[in-house]
Amino acid sequence: MLDYKIFDPSNPPKEDERKEIIKFLHTHLDQFRDTPEAIGNAVAYALGESSKPGGFILEGKEKGETVGVVVINKTGMESYIPDNILVYIAVDKKFRGKGYGRELMIKAIEMAEGDIKLHVEHDNPARFLYQKLGFTNKYMEMRLLRGKK
Ligand SMILES: CC(C)(COP(=O)(O)OP(=O)(O)OC[C@H]1O[C@@H](n2cnc3c(N)ncnc32)[C@H](O)[C@@H]1OP(=O)(O)O)[C@@H](O)C(=O)NCCC(=O)NCCS
Repeated sequence: MLDYKIFDPSNPPKEDERKEIIKFLHTHLDQFRDTPEAIGNAVAYALGESSKPGGFILEGKEKGETVGVVVINKTGMESYIPDNILVYIAVDKKFRGKGYGRELMIKAIEMAEGDIKLHVEHDNPARFLYQKLGFTNKYMEMRLLRGKK
């Protein structure tokens, strides 16, 4: 069982903890990662900064070492879009395949109120984890990309 640190608008991380979370995600999201700036924006959103609806950040630790991090953003659109977006989940490479990703997902699902939406690339094996936990893909996601990085 992991030890958890939970950050949300009423309990934001200290500056060094925030930097560590962003660095952790940027390192361990591997090829699915975003820029540190984008990750920082999702973290700021989860903390309800700039009047955003908020969410939470779950940090799973073992013997003081960070094993994995989940970031949830609330949408504030619950009557027409799921209540929450699971923006990021990453487990440190050296801790993968031991059930920690599953444990973090179960904890995040328990904590999030309402439905959860997530985005996963077709070739990311993380989709097996989501499917095993009951996530389905009734909808096809389509995007109109306008050249912005
Ligand atoms: C996805 C990730 C969080 C999974 O973490 P993990 O600790 O290795 O996962 P677990 O050991 O808890 O495995 C959970 C389940 O998913 C399945 N699974 C995990 N990785 C898998 C893989 N590469 N292929 C097939 N199944 C896989 C396992 O079989 C397991 O099922 P079980 O509980 O029935 O045994 C981790 O691989 C990761 O950080 N990946 C890089 C970042 C990433 O892709 N994040 C998701 C972006 S959408």
